[in-house]
Amino acid sequence: MTRHFTSLMETGADETAALVESARAFKRSPPKNRPLAGKSVAFCFMNPSLRTQVSCEVAAASLGAHPVTLFLGSGTWKIAVEEGVVMDGDCPEHAREAVPVLARLCDALALRAFPAGKDWKEDRKDAYLAAFRRHSTVPVISLESAMGHPCQGLADQMTLRERMDPRGKEFLLTWAPHIKPLPLAVPHSAAEAAALAGMNVTIARPPGFDLDPEVMEKLSSVCKARGARLRVSDKPQEAYRGAHAVYAKAWGSLSEYGRPLPADPAFRALWRVSADKMALTDGAVFMHCLPVRRNVEVDDAVLDGPSSVVVDQAENRLHTAKAVLYRLLTGKHYSQEASQCPMPSAR
Ligand code: CP
Repeated sequence: MTRHFTSLMETGADETAALVESARAFKRSPPKNRPLAGKSVAFCFMNPSLRTQVSCEVAAASLGAHPVTLFLGSGTWKIAVEEGVVMDGDCPEHAREAVPVLARLCDALALRAFPAGKDWKEDRKDAYLAAFRRHSTVPVISLESAMGHPCQGLADQMTLRERMDPRGKEFLLTWAPHIKPLPLAVPHSAAEAAALAGMNVTIARPPGFDLDPEVMEKLSSVCKARGARLRVSDKPQEAYRGAHAVYAKAWGSLSEYGRPLPADPAFRALWRVSADKMALTDGAVFMHCLPVRRNVEVDDAVLDGPSSVVVDQAENRLHTAKAVLYRLLTGKHYSQEASQCPMPSAR
């Protein structure tokens, strides 16, 4: 067990699988008591959120913990993270004090800090998340950074696990059109979660839209270790064939980092998820982390059709958030405890 939950690869295959099972146990039989009573968790946001904020707050509160939601830089002082910085700019506070203070007041800290989108070499260092990890004396949870969205990846994997044994199944991560070059966090974590679960992973993307090379290396070694296949394709029609799960996500190009995405209608049509493409799969479920741009990333017919599991993915953010908080704050998995301590019968 790692002290923090900021990366699925760091968390590892066994622990990720155990968290998924714990989340399923929370969904099946939520605890009647409040196992985290007396604890507090600070959820720190530097960017907007719907699912992450609500699922985390509700998860903490329903387990008895007190959620403190902070909007860093707007509801709080703006925080600097650079070491040795002369603080004569717009940041009156440094992470060297702010993070230890939060850690004295709360039992876990969670952070959403998106990349600036100007320089990938800088963004991929995840300076804010690294500062939280470095200066916190309590567990840190990533609520999305430049490199990953592990809470989303966990919920994605739970959603698949509810429908299939993922080992050996075909997972297609497909690039989708968008009006903006979005971060790579979700595609990184979606592919990592699938690889850690033993799925064959296909990444379909236009040339120039590769994932981070270090993420690809780790994906390759995990797939190899688990006897699975990792494939990269620039032919969407081929890539859909035989898929059991289709995960659509827009992301920006690392080779032309921060530049607008191609808006050519034929290019968009080639990559937009459609019922025709879904018909090529082996009855695949359609997945997306949300929010999604209808009829830009995916057609209404798919999003509103029977294969779509996007709302289940969002609901599972709640159960997986409970599993992560419970693990970090008690050292245990709920599934283990639930099986060891069955609820007393009504009689
Ligand atoms: N999927 C996800 O993280 O949603 P929000 O950005 O609304 O939190």
